Amino acid sequence: MSKDLTPAPPPSAAVLVYGAPSPELAEAGADALQTSPLVPGSTPLETLAPDSCDRAVVAAPPGTVERRYVEALALRALKPGGELIVLAPKDRGGARLRGELTGFGCEVEETGRRHQRICRALRPAAPEGLDAALAAGGLQRPAALDLWSQPGVFSWDRPDPGTQLLLKHLPPLSGAGADLGCGVGQIALSVLASPAVTALTLVDIDRRAIDAARRNVADPRAQIVWGDARQTPELSGLDFVAMNPPFHDSGTESRALGVAFVARAAAVLRKGGVLWLVANRHLPYEESLARLFTRVAPAREAAGFKVYEARK
Ligand SMILES: C[S@@+](CC[C@H](N)C(=O)[O-])C[C@H]1O[C@@H](n2cnc3c(N)ncnc32)[C@H](O)[C@@H]1O
Repeated sequence: MSKDLTPAPPPSAAVLVYGAPSPELAEAGADALQTSPLVPGSTPLETLAPDSCDRAVVAAPPGTVERRYVEALALRALKPGGELIVLAPKDRGGARLRGELTGFGCEVEETGRRHQRICRALRPAAPEGLDAALAAGGLQRPAALDLWSQPGVFSWDRPDPGTQLLLKHLPPLSGAGADLGCGVGQIALSVLASPAVTALTLVDIDRRAIDAARRNVADPRAQIVWGDARQTPELSGLDFVAMNPPFHDSGTESRALGVAFVARAAAVLRKGGVLWLVANRHLPYEESLARLFTRVAPAREAAGFKVYEARK
């Protein structure tokens, strides 16, 4: 039997949504296609067929380059005349929305409610400047990082000082392990430099980080997973976890998220397995570490960060 080699058509949708706009401010509808890279399993906005959507509702991200990239992708996916609604808190990019959309050639109606700016536009026949915004916000290799990365990803264009401190103290590890909240794979690359490491699972909730990590960490011992590290993938009996856990959830500092990462690390390690963790000095992980691990070495501190070594 001959195989059908016709490439699948790009995905399309009548309505797309990016993120979680408050339904009171902009209703996307239950059938809208989710396109945010922070929602595991969502459809990348990049893959949508151009000129295919009737409506796009975008909860715009705070970073300017990232936001213009998303606006440009939404405009590219819309049909001419399709409706674009973009909203953001006034002090987290909202004040710039109108100017950005006008720059793409849109006529914009702007309203404000509950500290959010809400801009509505119809996609012009020929939007302007999309290519430049797409190039500026796409996957790239910033010189100061020298790894594949993308605006919007954690510390996207330079090494994070916390990560650097962890890598300074991390000894060569061995056996099977995980990097929870792997970002673009900087910790993983260092861990995999040890030939005694047999397997490493990298997990991140940000698809852009995962796409970059897949390019950066081309190692057969690595398994790279897009998902919420608090639940996925199934892991157990690991020899080590090395991580710089997130301390922000949807842009707001969240201590609970980091504590949940510590608990997941404890759950996936074997007895005697080791957790290497870096965190901002002010984040309160000591109590969880003391409760979930049998031995916690005194933290190594520098430049506002602490590195912990905790044995289960
Ligand atoms: C502090 S950054 C560290 C990134 C990378 N390991 C490094 O050292 O540069 C934390 C990472 O956790 C990811 N993250 C946030 N919440 C997550 C979750 N629930 N599950 C998996 N990853 C998550 C973020 O996308 C971010 O890449």
